[in-house]
Amino acid sequence: MAIAGYEIREKIYESANSVVYRGSRQSDNQAVILKMLKDEYPTSAELTRLRQEYEIIRSLKITGAIAAYELEKYQNTLVLVVEDFGGESLKQWLGDRQLSIAEFLIIAIKITAGLQGIHAEGVIHKDVNPANIVFNSETGELKFIDFGIATVLSQSNQALANPNALEGTPAYISPEQTGRMNRSLDYRTDFYSLGATFYELLAHQPPFTGNDVMELIHSQIAISPVPPHIRNSEIPQTISNIIMKLLAKTPEERYQSAWGIKADLETCLHQLQETGEIADFILGRQDISSQFQIPDRLYGRSAEVETLLTAFQRVRQGSCEMMLVKGYSGIGKSTLVQEISKQIAREGGVFYYWQIRSFSG
Ligand SMILES: Nc1ncnc2c1ncn2[C@@H]1O[C@H](COP(=O)(O)OP(=O)(O)O)[C@@H](O)[C@H]1O
Ligand SMILES: [Mg+2]
Repeated sequence: MAIAGYEIREKIYESANSVVYRGSRQSDNQAVILKMLKDEYPTSAELTRLRQEYEIIRSLKITGAIAAYELEKYQNTLVLVVEDFGGESLKQWLGDRQLSIAEFLIIAIKITAGLQGIHAEGVIHKDVNPANIVFNSETGELKFIDFGIATVLSQSNQALANPNALEGTPAYISPEQTGRMNRSLDYRTDFYSLGATFYELLAHQPPFTGNDVMELIHSQIAISPVPPHIRNSEIPQTISNIIMKLLAKTPEERYQSAWGIKADLETCLHQLQETGEIADFILGRQDISSQFQIPDRLYGRSAEVETLLTAFQRVRQGSCEMMLVKGYSGIGKSTLVQEISKQIAREGGVFYYWQIRSFSG
């Protein structure tokens, strides 16, 4: 194996479809990860997927997603070159390691923050699982990888699950993403897979196991998982409840925002640090469902809505802030602001809004 311009040091992963190497870029010695398709003559669908993965991670300039460097041609195929921050997948890192509850919470909060950033950019990952999250335990950095089947939500289109080919990893896939529920997909599919990922971090196995894909799909759709605290009595009931809420069969019963999940995990961590235990509390009190209740005309503005509502949440906790919404006339500033005003009123806020106009040119 020789790819012009790169030094390849070790193979770190191999599956039926892809091979991943660790190496460096010769021009500047930058450490890199190279992901390539296994097939010497990949199908155009495989190549498109890798190209899409490159485009998505290149556009996602957030710390919670791996950075893309290059998509290189190599013989008849393509090689995706991405950032190496010295991490390994959570699956590899976990191994037989028994996480303390505090360790779990710290990692779970990082994962959720990463997902929050991805969603705020209008991207659904669709393959959240411990093999697709890379963690460097020395620096504490954690990033999502493998955006091969991720979907970018543009103006008012909701993704449909592909009924012909199963997209995702069966042990972590949400009921609606199996394509057998006759429902469209939205961000909340990632919350289900997040629940299955948390489950594995604590129980060393996802909620449903086995090699039979049809059986796994059936379980995801119709079987209630054994709650984590039943599998392992060391797991606090509240954390078990959070995971079970993520694993709800219908998106409406789950958390509605990464923000809300993170808030509950943070409450657990604070309680644990202050009192040494986690008391029962009502879950989802800070769960803002802006992304799903906003009407069609506001699709594509989820990042802005999230920014404003996040500021509102900070202010509720005692800070003082001013937000300016600017843009060309007709771009939808008032609609955006009116939309969040409803949410703010619902949560007991008082809403003032000033228009500043400039007449130039
Ligand atoms: N940037 C990275 N840093 C460290 N390990 C990585 C990185 N990218 C991929 N890997 C390793 O390679 C594995 C497969 O990569 P992934 O992009 O998920 O390929 P696939 O599409 O075949 O699942 C990951 O589970 C992880 O172990
Ligand atoms: Mg993967």
